Formats: sequence, structure tokens, C-alpha cells
Amino acid sequence: MSKRNFYITTPIYYPSGKPHMGHAYSSIIADVFARFKRLDNFNVYFLTGTDEHGLKIQREAKKNNKDPKLFCDELSNTFKKLTKSLNLSNNDFIRTTEKRHHESVKEIWQRLEKSGDIYLDKYSGWYSVSDEAYYDDDEILNENGIKKSKASGSIVEWVEEESYFFKLSAWQNKLIKFYENNPNFILPASRKKEVINFVKKGLKDLSVSRTSFSWGIQVPNNDKHVIYVWLDALTNYISALKFPNTKDKLYKEFWPADLHIIGKDILRFHAIYWPAFLLAAKLETPNRVYGHGWILSDEKKMSKSLGNILDPLEIIKNYGVDQLRYYLIKEVSLGNDGSISLENLRNCINNDLANNFGNLCQRVLSFVEKNCNSKIPVPEKYDNRDNELSNEIVQKLPKLKEMMDNQELNSYVKEVINFSFNSNKYFNDLEPWNLKKSNLSRMNTVLYCILNQIKSISILLYPIMPNSIEKNIQLMGLKKEDISLHNVENLNLLKPGNSIKKGDILFKKIDSE
Ligand code: MSP
Repeated sequence: MSKRNFYITTPIYYPSGKPHMGHAYSSIIADVFARFKRLDNFNVYFLTGTDEHGLKIQREAKKNNKDPKLFCDELSNTFKKLTKSLNLSNNDFIRTTEKRHHESVKEIWQRLEKSGDIYLDKYSGWYSVSDEAYYDDDEILNENGIKKSKASGSIVEWVEEESYFFKLSAWQNKLIKFYENNPNFILPASRKKEVINFVKKGLKDLSVSRTSFSWGIQVPNNDKHVIYVWLDALTNYISALKFPNTKDKLYKEFWPADLHIIGKDILRFHAIYWPAFLLAAKLETPNRVYGHGWILSDEKKMSKSLGNILDPLEIIKNYGVDQLRYYLIKEVSLGNDGSISLENLRNCINNDLANNFGNLCQRVLSFVEKNCNSKIPVPEKYDNRDNELSNEIVQKLPKLKEMMDNQELNSYVKEVINFSFNSNKYFNDLEPWNLKKSNLSRMNTVLYCILNQIKSISILLYPIMPNSIEKNIQLMGLKKEDISLHNVENLNLLKPGNSIKKGDILFKKIDSE
């Protein structure tokens, strides 16, 4: 059977400073879904990259006395390195300064012009360089004489200049209809409500070009203007698939995207502007935009005394990348904001990884090493308790897939960790160390049954902790290719007589500071 395709993206990052935990979080979420779909035999394309144009980058480069392109080269490279440090499985890393992207953006612009959705006028209004966003008067607050966006708190400045406009107002009703026809286009539901309310209030035409700076893609046939950085940036999702060549295999296989993972701060761009641009350009719209919450990181919470330091690279160095990935996925509720702290990270590593899953692997593998000559034992017929344990995971597999398809990531992890808890209990209750003296064949059966559990739980944890799980799977005499959802259902994957190894402790316990 031919594989089904799945296209997933992260937002492309502004390379205007050091990568922080929010960047890491968005990417890790997308990577977990990408890896899970691959385990489910999907042909996955996973995209990330850097968003390098606009006034924010131009100003930042100037502050650093650097040419914007050279500035971006350096910082884009830092983000590329981050993808390695986070162990992302992205298939491509796109930069908006690349030629392939410029061609794609120019084509989309020309399509919008051709459809009559773009006109020339003058923009006067508020603009936040930090958000690269336009704001209406009622979206602005005055803080001691300084005008700020109510939503993001970033400073806004007054802009008056010639600008091309996209006729967003004409798309208002069509967008409402689009949301009705595609009820799962925006998730979670609370964000969908937010967007629909905003659109229903009325949409104004959107300024889509700037003339007061030059760092961007020039408007075709009017090089006084550069294209608005969000129209530029959003197009990356199709540039990477070889747009404008809509006949290309990549484009045909993967567009429309299945899932754009984004933070809630950039929902308006993805859930309103992006489908409107695509519909106007007569292109298909993505299937889903999931807006996750924020990792809270305000000044107070970031203080050392609270032990809540948010540098992902520092945490990876001290605790390990899988530990960080697991912690963020398990402890931050996907659709909501969440605070993180080093203390919680340590507790999570100790409770879930060291004491629960790690301990299960360690005690079972070392028992088999000592008592079965490091060989997978030959099982006898399973009794009810063995069947109950093994069937639990197999029976829940469809539900687990559904959870991942609905981005219910926290429920998924909870279930999987619970399997590990139940397996530990099984091992304690059946006391193979006593069976060794009284009933050797029963001991072998119990060990086989629990080894099989470790195999299945490992596969299910793989998308979250790929490095540790790959090691663990190899200790059990399996290969990387064996890590698939199909093998969660395969209760005979482990071959009796094959060698296993105890290996080092999978997840070390962390002492509090
Ligand atoms: N360049 C745009 C995205 C363009 S996509 C066509 C952008 N870049 S960003 O670098 O500012 O942010 C990248 C992602 O990180 C966004 O999804 C954003 O929501 C996320 N986060 C940034 N700070 C965050 C937190 N503190 N917490 C969680 N995620 C947040 O936006």
C-alpha cells in the first residue's frame, strides 16, 4: 500500500537574537508529531527555517553594525544549530533570503495582483516593529505616554507612507464560511472562537508593502516597495515545496499542509491572512493551524532565585535533550500558557523518567541479564494477568493515534506513562525473583511479557525522546527500523534466544541543587 503524506511546519524564526525556550517549544511539539506520523507509516515532510526580512531584522543588523544579509547568515546558522541540539527531524530548513523563496513570493504577489486583490494607496496607522504587525486604534494602549499594543505589549510607532493594500475586507464573509466548512481548521477551540469573533467584527484592508526601508523582497515592477514581511514569511510554507512549480512532486504530494504548529501570538497571521492570501491566489488552504500557548518567561519568573532559567541550550547541556523534550511536552498543557522551572524539570525527570520508565527498563533488563544469561527467555502460554497487561496497549493504540491526530499531546503522554506504571506494578506483583526458585517457566513467561511491554512503551515514547529510546531498543536486540506503531501491536517481535544488554542507566536521577 502506498504511504499517505503528511506535511507539518513550525513557524520560521526571526533570527534577531538568541534562541530561547519559546522557540524550542514550538519546534519540539512539531517534531513529536512529525516523528509520530512517521512511526505510523506516513510519508512526512517537516519544515522549519528562518524569517529574515523586515524592519525588525534591518534595525537589529544596524545596531550590530552588520550588513543585514551577513547578520542573518550568522544568526540563521545559530538557529540551524538549534535544530540539531533539539534533535529535530526536519526535512528542510528554509531561509527567506534564498532565491527559491523570492521567486515563490513574487509569484504569489502577481497572482494577487491578477485576481484584483491588490491596489495602491497610502497607509497611515500604528505599526509594531517587534511584532511586524499593524494595529487599529482600539488595539493600542497608552502607558505613560508610550503607545503599545494591548495584545503583545510591544511599542508601536505611527506610520504614514505609500503602500499596496490587500483587499482583506472583501474576504470577511468568505473566511467566515471557510471556518464553518472547516471546523477543525483552527485549534484549540478557544483560539478558533477568538479568531471568528475578530473576523466578525469586520476586517480592514491590509497594507502589504512598505516604502520606508529596503530589507525585503521588492514588489514586482515597483522596486520602491518591499513586500510586507508576513506575506513574504507565510509563503515559505509553499516555497519549500517548489512553488511556483505546482506540478513538482513535492508540491503535489504535500500541499495543502496538514498542520501548521504556531504560538498563539501569531494566530491572526496564520488563521486569517494566510487562508485569505491563498484563496485569493487560487491555491489550496492548509488543513489545520494549531496555536499553542506560551511558556511564561517574564522578568520575575526568569530570575535565578526562582530557578527558572530559560536557555534551552543550557538545559540540554545540564540535563539532556530528551529530558528537556519530555518535560516540555508532559508538563506544559499544549493549548495553554505554562510556567516552567528547574525544580519542576528535576521532579519530572526523577518521577517519570528515572523512577518510573527508566527504573522499569533497568530492573527488567538487569534481571534478564543475570538470570537468563542475557537472552530473551522462551515464554509459555500467557495467563489472564499477562494478557490483560499486553492487551492494554494494543487496545488503546487507536485511541492514542486519535489523540495525536487531535493534538491531545498531554493525554497521550499520560496514557503512555501509565502503561509504564502498570508494568512496574506487574513486575512487583509477580515477583520473578521468587518464581526463579518455584516455577522457572512461569518466570520466563513473565519476563517475556514485560520485555514486550518495554518494547511497546519505548516505541510510543520514541517521538518524544528519540535518542534514549533508540538506545533502549538496541539493548533489546532490536533495530531502529523496528520502531514503528505496527510493532506496538506485534506481540512476537522479540525473538527468544536473542541477546539483550542491561546498558547504562537510561535516565539518571537528579539531586536537587
Ligand atoms: N517569524 C515569525 C513566524 C513566521 S511563520 C511564517 C515569528 N518568529 S519568532 O521567532 O518570533 O517566533 C517563533 C515561534 O516561537 C512562534 O510560534 C512563537 O509563538 C513562538 N514563541 C516565541 N516565544 C514564545 C514563548 N515564550 N512561549 C512559547 N512560544 C513562543 O513569530
